[in-house]
Amino acid sequence: MTGDKQNLNANVAHMGNKVFIELQQTMLRYRTGKVALSGVNLSIKQGQFIYLIGESGAGKSTLLRMTYGGIRPTSGQMSVQGTNMLLAKDAQIRTLRQRTGVIFQDHKLLFSRTVFENIALPLRVHGWKRERLVGRVRKVLQFVGLEDRLWSYPEALSGGEQQRIAIARAMIATPPVILADEPTGNLDDDTAAKVMNLLKALNEMGSTVITATHDMQLLDSHPGRVLRLHEGSLVEDSHASGE
Ligand SMILES: Nc1ncnc2c1ncn2[C@@H]1O[C@H](COP(=O)(O)OP(=O)(O)O)[C@@H](O)[C@H]1O
Ligand SMILES: [Mg+2]
Repeated sequence: MTGDKQNLNANVAHMGNKVFIELQQTMLRYRTGKVALSGVNLSIKQGQFIYLIGESGAGKSTLLRMTYGGIRPTSGQMSVQGTNMLLAKDAQIRTLRQRTGVIFQDHKLLFSRTVFENIALPLRVHGWKRERLVGRVRKVLQFVGLEDRLWSYPEALSGGEQQRIAIARAMIATPPVILADEPTGNLDDDTAAKVMNLLKALNEMGSTVITATHDMQLLDSHPGRVLRLHEGSLVEDSHASGE
């Protein structure tokens, strides 16, 4: 492991081999009455690389949303990074959210802000001084290969570059978990491979990575545990032991 990687990895190296996310008979019903997940039993250990697959509407985004605390389970059990997602106070959920890096298909960058501002946003809440912020942002931009874009605006970047900026933003606070929802959905094969290589590298540095995708080609290029959802149920787990 290089010095750079060790540095980027500082917050996650101590996490060890513990259970990271656990669901027991977990159910999620939206306000519309739609049951998007039901009877899900699942255990994910720190450091795993997970693919979440299944047809459109299977519940992939719902499970990711529950994992970063965007929505709470309706019933059953669910714990994420030691937080009970049914009983936690809103403040606890916010803390969890800050310890989670999220990447969306449409990256959700702010087009009125520079690359620097987009990436630094999560750290501003921690009260970092500007000089330290710039140094840290440069470092994550180096990691995604875009250090020369620090002061660019997102509209000047290609779709693949924008997605790499979103990865840099997701990793800025060294979260122990990275959740990616169809991160390669809008990208050509070469650019998708680049994005997956970055996610794999983050995993090798210690982060648990969960990627929702319906692109089965991705699974061939990078090995990982495969979880398949179908109509809200977990119907396949390539690694049922959780190792
Ligand atoms: N906010 C919502 N309100 C009501 N139903 C929703 C909402 N979000 C998703 N759903 C429904 O829940 C099911 C699972 O959706 P989703 O988790 O987005 O699936 P996937 O990401 O696998 O395509 C779908 O039937 C979808 O229409
Ligand atoms: Mg989805």
